[in-house]
Amino acid sequence: MPDLDQQRFVLGLTGGIACYKSAELLRRMQDHGADIDVVMTEAATHFMTTTTMQALSGRPVYTDAWDSRVSNSMAHISLTRGARAVLIAPASADFIAKLAHGMADDLLSTLCLARGACPLLIAPAMNREMWEHPATQRNVAQLRADGVMILGPGTGDQACGEVGDGRMLEPQQLLQEIIAFVQPKPLAGKTVLITAGPTAEKIDPVRVISNRSSGKTGYAIARAAYEAGAKVILVSGPTALPAPYGVPRIEVETAAQMHAAVMSQARSCDVFIAVAAVADWHVVNASDNKIKKTAANQPPALQFAPNPDILAEVAQMPGGPWCVGFAAETESLHDNAQAKRQRKGVPLLVGNLAQDSMGGDATTFVLFDDDGMEELPRLSKIEAARRLIDAIAKRLPDRA
Ligand code: C5P
Repeated sequence: MPDLDQQRFVLGLTGGIACYKSAELLRRMQDHGADIDVVMTEAATHFMTTTTMQALSGRPVYTDAWDSRVSNSMAHISLTRGARAVLIAPASADFIAKLAHGMADDLLSTLCLARGACPLLIAPAMNREMWEHPATQRNVAQLRADGVMILGPGTGDQACGEVGDGRMLEPQQLLQEIIAFVQPKPLAGKTVLITAGPTAEKIDPVRVISNRSSGKTGYAIARAAYEAGAKVILVSGPTALPAPYGVPRIEVETAAQMHAAVMSQARSCDVFIAVAAVADWHVVNASDNKIKKTAANQPPALQFAPNPDILAEVAQMPGGPWCVGFAAETESLHDNAQAKRQRKGVPLLVGNLAQDSMGGDATTFVLFDDDGMEELPRLSKIEAARRLIDAIAKRLPDRA
């Protein structure tokens, strides 16, 4: 099911050049099943036409509190009733000031004041000096205290030519925030550490020994944990994937680096999910220079030493995080997975068949714990990840 299926949002546009991104945002939200009513301030109509937003949303666009098309003249009440949220993108400095003071002198500000329990999310967009001004910062702090969710702003080049904080988040980032917003929050207040991707063990400067791992499963779990309200730290081996939105990524290459990164973070985390395909060995006699082929084409004599078992070590840590392991097997999944769970000393182990999951966008998770096993249906990786996060949250003991 699409992430925003059959959910209706009110998308408010206020006066700012970032209005051009709101058309794209509306489109991307529709891709995920959302229905969208657009409300624009008079200033917004100088940056984006109502015709564009009406054509894209397939619904009338509202700009005027005195709109005679609304039979009871109550658009400021009726639009938010039954809506999942009001999203103001872009939210100008002026509009933020109005919201902070409870002003209601046009349709959009009146609608915000009259919205009752309907959540309000705003994506500020303004020049960096306007954003940093104490008055704006005061107003934003007031909105946060009033329960308004502030999305961004981003940082970087601004339309005025200056560089700094105040850009509206990109449509794709706002979409991720909105999808996260509608997800349940069973990990709110928790910190989750995740390893993902392969490790690469150096043979020489141009050659490595590695495992096949796209990182997709670990990254999906990182995203699902973020959506579930957790602070997430991702320790990732080399992958082609961008970091999931809202998740800081520590990039490593070798198992030793992954081990060091995990050990420096683990103690302050509530949950550790080891998804990475860590190489079992590293090359002891790795060469600093490229190994040349000999005349006889003799293969190099590599010597190996075992890598630290990161998961088993974290699982033994006194007062350490609650640990989840992974077992990608090619056969006898059930026997191998339960045995691995015991060996690693973890309360939950997720098994999957490598050939079913590797590199693809879908997977079948089988959860093993003290009570036995539970097989989840074959799902997209993000849906499987959300189910896993839910299963973790249900099993997580209260920590003092
Ligand atoms: O021992 P094996 O590699 O089969 O175990 C897989 C599980 O252990 C995965 O959760 C993997 O991330 C973790 N692991 C680890 N450090 C290693 C090897 C595996 O954390 N050196």
